[in-house]
Amino acid sequence: MASGGPGRACPRSYHYGAAALSGKPVVNIETLWVAGGLYGNSSALQALLALYQREPGPKALVFNGDFHWFDVDGHDFKEINDAVLRHLATRGNVETELALPEREAGCGCGYPDWVGDAEVERSNRIIERLRATASCRPEALQHLGALPMHLVAQVGSERVAVVHGDADSLAGWGFSQEVLATEAGRADAAAAFERAQARIFASSHSCLPVLQCFPGGRVIANNGAAGMPNFRGTSFGLATRISVAPSRAALYGVAAGNLYIEAMPLEYDPAAWARRFVAQWPAGSDAHRSYYERIANGPRYGMHQAVRPEAALAA
Ligand SMILES: [Fe+2]
Repeated sequence: MASGGPGRACPRSYHYGAAALSGKPVVNIETLWVAGGLYGNSSALQALLALYQREPGPKALVFNGDFHWFDVDGHDFKEINDAVLRHLATRGNVETELALPEREAGCGCGYPDWVGDAEVERSNRIIERLRATASCRPEALQHLGALPMHLVAQVGSERVAVVHGDADSLAGWGFSQEVLATEAGRADAAAAFERAQARIFASSHSCLPVLQCFPGGRVIANNGAAGMPNFRGTSFGLATRISVAPSRAALYGVAAGNLYIEAMPLEYDPAAWARRFVAQWPAGSDAHRSYYERIANGPRYGMHQAVRPEAALAA
């Protein structure tokens, strides 16, 4: 265990290093959907599956971690778990701390300094509550523990590395919008493409979306959250779509090499989801205090902040 205390520390077992991503692709397809941070939102799950079903051609859907979080109701937990495991999936820190808990890892989020102590403590209590639900499903836990931390997909002629955190760690924040807003952060991220032998990284974990372009037609696509609003005044989740052909339904996107990398809105019924959330996390509960404002109104973040062309590197 690294230093930092529960919720802040990154367990050593989370580290894999970018070179671990240079292996063989698990699929060879024309369209890849990546949905990180579903957070137990069953309404967003249905919206995602409906969109994915309509996708033509050879395709795959990857849930790249943290598909569980708010789903402390046993029925919701099972619904999310069963649906996700019908597709490709990698573990996030949530699934890891459910299935393979490390002493003093807390939620395993590896929260950076800009996240306050009270929020970190609430997250540590949320994972405890979710553990109680998951402990009734030993088979599910076995499956979650056996999931990989990352995978590589061949999309058209390009390699796409799918991670939960960043190029080096399951709960790394190197692909967060905050770190990618710094020159040093972009320099570190740019160096990882070579080590991973990938043109594109698809990530999640840090909860806010960013589509960061790099020289040489390389891109980091962080979908933010599939199961929570990602921009102020909006009420939809986001998934990343990477394909040889563009989509008409994309919110925004960029081209890299022969591929199109796009953010796809997951339009679910916000009122129905808010009711479902409050039924599990009533006012005053830890998740309600940390997340209800975002669920109702979105985070203080705008779409114009998410799309970052290569020119931004020189800033
Ligand atoms: Fe995470």
